[in-house]
Amino acid sequence: MPFYKAINIGSCATVFLWKIEEDFTELFRAVRLKDVSLARLEGMKSESHQKGFLCVRMLLQHCGYSDFDLYYDEFGKPHLKDGKHISISHSADFSAIVLSDKNIGMDIEQVKEKVLRIAPRFMDVSHLVNLSEADQTRKATVVWGIKEAIFKLKNEAGISFPDHIFEDEFSLADKKGKARLHFNNTVEDYEICFESIENYMLVCALKAD
Ligand SMILES: CC(C)(COP(=O)(O)OP(=O)(O)OC[C@H]1O[C@@H](n2cnc3c(N)ncnc32)[C@H](O)[C@@H]1OP(=O)(O)O)[C@@H](O)C(=O)NCCC(=O)NCCS
Repeated sequence: MPFYKAINIGSCATVFLWKIEEDFTELFRAVRLKDVSLARLEGMKSESHQKGFLCVRMLLQHCGYSDFDLYYDEFGKPHLKDGKHISISHSADFSAIVLSDKNIGMDIEQVKEKVLRIAPRFMDVSHLVNLSEADQTRKATVVWGIKEAIFKLKNEAGISFPDHIFEDEFSLADKKGKARLHFNNTVEDYEICFESIENYMLVCALKAD
């Protein structure tokens, strides 16, 4: 399947998802790449990573952009030349981009049981009580995505998931929540929304007004 779907995030942003089912050659022939991107692609060790990278370019082309419109800053955060905000994520079978009028962070993560083993290292595990093991796994995956998304939005060295980013209690059914970043003597509030897609969790973070 090529383009999978678009999801509106409030009135300012849209997530575009690609389900990766093509082989490498088909994708490689379908995208135009800058020399620097070609070099990056050639340096990637796994074909799965290469396909995720190429599908991000398929999504850019789907949205009327190309690899030539995208550049990265010194921390690795992607930007578009026309000033629209973008965040990028890939995980196994999916690549995702979000295009936004405001700075935004986005993460797509496969739901795997092993997230529960590392949950105490990155989240408030009291948020997992009274849930089935399946829902604990899904909720911990959302919290991981919240922290990745805020990290990507903020893009500052030194941010630690357990020490600086705090999720408020939320319910999986709400598909939204709030989180705070305590960093460099300031506190910033974020609005979170999330969506279950097959066996994946998609999470977006925007700064609260
Ligand atoms: C950079 C980071 C956020 C990427 O997340 P990931 O889940 O490994 O991978 P994803 O596929 O979701 O995201 C990768 C994309 O993030 C984007 N990205 C990379 N660095 C970024 C940054 N500093 N700011 C914003 N976006 C960034 C890139 O677009 C990248 O994809 P591309 O290079 O192919 O375009 C992650 O590796 C990281 O460094 N996290 C913070 C470290 C941390 O605290 N870890 C856990 C401690 S408990």
